[in-house]
Amino acid sequence: MQEALQPNRPLAAAGPSGTEPQKVLRSRVEAHSLVSLWDNMEDVVSSTTEKFVPHVWRWDDIREVLMAAGDIVSLEEADRRALILANPGVFPKYFTTNNLYVAYQLVRPGETAAVHRHTPSASRFVLEGNGGYTVVEGEKCPMQRGDLILTPQGTWHDHGNDGEAPAIWVDVLDLPIVDHQGAIHFDFVYGEADHGGGEPIRKYSQSIRTEIGYSTSLYGTGGMQPAYVDSKRGDGIGSPQFVYPWEATYAALNRLRDHEGSPFDGIVLRYTDPTTGGPISPTMDFTVQLLRAGEATKSHRHTSSTSYTCIQGSGETIVDGQVMSWGENDTFVLPSWCWHSHQNHSATEDAILYAVSDLPISVKLGLYREQAEGEPDGAWRGRPGTYERRQ
Ligand SMILES: [Fe+2]
Ligand SMILES: [Fe+2]
Repeated sequence: MQEALQPNRPLAAAGPSGTEPQKVLRSRVEAHSLVSLWDNMEDVVSSTTEKFVPHVWRWDDIREVLMAAGDIVSLEEADRRALILANPGVFPKYFTTNNLYVAYQLVRPGETAAVHRHTPSASRFVLEGNGGYTVVEGEKCPMQRGDLILTPQGTWHDHGNDGEAPAIWVDVLDLPIVDHQGAIHFDFVYGEADHGGGEPIRKYSQSIRTEIGYSTSLYGTGGMQPAYVDSKRGDGIGSPQFVYPWEATYAALNRLRDHEGSPFDGIVLRYTDPTTGGPISPTMDFTVQLLRAGEATKSHRHTSSTSYTCIQGSGETIVDGQVMSWGENDTFVLPSWCWHSHQNHSATEDAILYAVSDLPISVKLGLYREQAEGEPDGAWRGRPGTYERRQ
């Protein structure tokens, strides 16, 4: 009798039946810190990232706890006063998705967070600016709501707040992937020579070495970049444009609002490194998407995990049949390879989502796979923004 084709499973998924000699053998195997593939085939071929779950963190909850932390934990004690969004599937491990670390950070008026640098690439998306700022490689970047400020790997950075109200932003780092590589390094000792020169002395904040708006003056005009400066800034890989102001982002979204856009993401724009045209980080892709009033996207899935923060409006995202509603300043996460679609239920108001994913990792390793709802299994190795079916 012929066996019909079954769903995609390994031939020996069930493992050996477990005779006495096999059980004895297993004990002998395990005594030497070995594992028999034949007994564990199901685990080996399934993804451990399946532990990560879709989840929404509410702004009201986060802000309340963050403000309480402001009263109880000083920046001298904390270095950074940040609340990490720990995925419930791996809690209390502090990863938000398998490759992303997301946190909300508070700097109160008059505070400074000491300078440091590290191998993970980091980003700040500003929710409450109010006089907050980040200094990156000597460039002071004032924070306005919706600004994206980068501190690429190997760039010295410190934070502060010159204003009279709290500064709060969303940090997204590639810390988990750097951790997997055993490559997490932090430098906390920063030195500068005094104005008269001589040996560097330790500083807790950087001196300002450029004018305000340096990044956007040099790199903020699409299609052009200065030919008279070295665009390598800092000690690692990343965009030399450290600030992507909300004003320009919002204007670009509005210019394109009459386009059809992506069936999966609406009017979606990618933040790019002006020197390469590619993603602004070697490991993370940053986008912002406009879901127009009443817009509902088609469902798809892909091999990248994503963190979304709502900057304007409200709506819901359906992930593997689970409805996640979101509003302003909420953050929700989408694990890799989950079906998802977005909806803006308002008949009159826009909804705008800021998103960070680990897409560049999948693309660079040849692991990117995307499938649209209704397409057959076997969609294989696409390119982002396209859909290619395996021949
Ligand atoms: Fe940092
Ligand atoms: Fe997607």
